Amino acid sequence: MKTPTQKLIQLSGTALMIALLYILAFRGSTTVVAAAAASENDLGESTFKTTCAMCHGQDGSGNTDVGKSLKIPDLHSAEVQGNSDEQLSQVITNGKNAMPPFKASLTDDQIHALVMYVRQLKKK
Ligand code: HEC
Repeated sequence: MKTPTQKLIQLSGTALMIALLYILAFRGSTTVVAAAAASENDLGESTFKTTCAMCHGQDGSGNTDVGKSLKIPDLHSAEVQGNSDEQLSQVITNGKNAMPPFKASLTDDQIHALVMYVRQLKKK
């Protein structure tokens, strides 16, 4: 037979184990999330450089000859950043005026990564 004190010790031991497991699981998942975000950034950046930069410029400012003649907006601007993620992915998927659609040439993952890439331009 266990005394109440022993039971209490056993219980708090279990609680401690659970807490530790939570901490481990949580740390594990934040690492995974950070890694996923990093590779998503790479995908967004590399896709942007190969597919979008010819018009939007390497830095997204639209400061290219094509950009000027097509009046391409600066992707850092409040005007562009004011779009929801949904609207940005719509524009990339289906195009808008002189902006060509990319649904045939890019995967959903690439389009999603591009939206994230355009978003983080705001901070630069
Ligand atoms: C042929 C040149 C060209 C290419 C290539 C191009 N764009 Fe554009 N983009 C434009 C033009 C022109 C506009 C302005 C459209 C308008 O508002 O009339 C635009 C607008 C945008 C906007 C702003 C949309 C808005 O409503 O504010 C985003 C975001 C964008 N492009 C992202 C991209 C991404 C990401 C790529 C690469 C997959 C890309 N563009 C490739 C020409 C281009």
